[in-house]
Amino acid sequence: MTRERIVSGSQVTHDEDSVQLSLRPKLLSEYIGQNELKDKIKVTLEAARGRKEAVEHVLLYGPPGLGKTTLAHIIANEMGTKIYATAGPALQRTGDLMGILTNLKEGDILFIDEMHRLSPTIEEFMYPAMEDFKVDFVVDKGAFAKVINVPLKRFTLVGATTRAGMLSAPLRDRFGLYYHIDFYPTSELKEIVVRSAKLLETEIEADAAEVIAGRSRGTPRIANRLLRRVRDYAAVKGDGGADADIAVKALDAEGIDSLGLDNLDRKLLKVIIEYYKGGPVGIEALAATLSEEIDTLVDMVEPYLLKIGFVQRTKRGRVASAEAAEHLNMKLPDSGRQENLF
Ligand code: ADE
Repeated sequence: MTRERIVSGSQVTHDEDSVQLSLRPKLLSEYIGQNELKDKIKVTLEAARGRKEAVEHVLLYGPPGLGKTTLAHIIANEMGTKIYATAGPALQRTGDLMGILTNLKEGDILFIDEMHRLSPTIEEFMYPAMEDFKVDFVVDKGAFAKVINVPLKRFTLVGATTRAGMLSAPLRDRFGLYYHIDFYPTSELKEIVVRSAKLLETEIEADAAEVIAGRSRGTPRIANRLLRRVRDYAAVKGDGGADADIAVKALDAEGIDSLGLDNLDRKLLKVIIEYYKGGPVGIEALAATLSEEIDTLVDMVEPYLLKIGFVQRTKRGRVASAEAAEHLNMKLPDSGRQENLF
């Protein structure tokens, strides 16, 4: 039933996603967790089906790896429509988008990942497409320039972003539905690991699934990645089956600690605690000290550290908590704590 198509190889930026496609649930009933969100989506889809209309434009926002792309595919599957997937940075010229938009049929889904990275020109081009299902396309140049008004079929834009705050208000306002996806509790991640292990035909004990879930930073994509590492380790160092002992050894060997923190997380915390005496430190300075992109820290590293209270954001910058220092067997300098006032 799935009629999925990718716009073009070069425009699809998430290789990791396609590797994991086989583990992705295809229907809402297969999707584990996010129950409130699933209930809302069910109502939306049923209402649209009842009216025989396209679903309203949807904005999915939340940290990476929690299932935004998966949900976009599920919406298409459940509606029996095609999905065309692309990402903000891949859309450079209005011509790129023109080709995609004019090919959409009634009810088709256009999935744009990293919506916050759309160029202003593309963003403006999208306004009439989203609101009135038409685009104004300029042909020719100079004195011969003409604006052609091209009608579109009623499609659904599913936009995904890790930073809803970075979308302009006019763009945000053109979405009828906002769905926030939050980190998963360990119990749900455990279910996801068990489901994925079945699909991968890997034997895994409940305790091992729990170890993986506990080190997955609330994130299904990480849970699935760690499951593959444990599977490899069990195949090479064990007898194929994964128990808790194998899971702990495999993940320790990967540098993933008991809370799921990896080298970069620990490095970031150490830099705040040691180098910046506990903080506050601006994200720019942190990125420079760590030789990392600001976006990597803000999108991939920080959200979970904020969630577990290891880092706090203050007006004057990031500060590390006493719990973070304790986890790393370090001591927070006293002066750092003084600064930790909002
Ligand atoms: N794989 C990734 N995310 C999932 C989810 N929420 N439910 C089931 N399988 C998943």
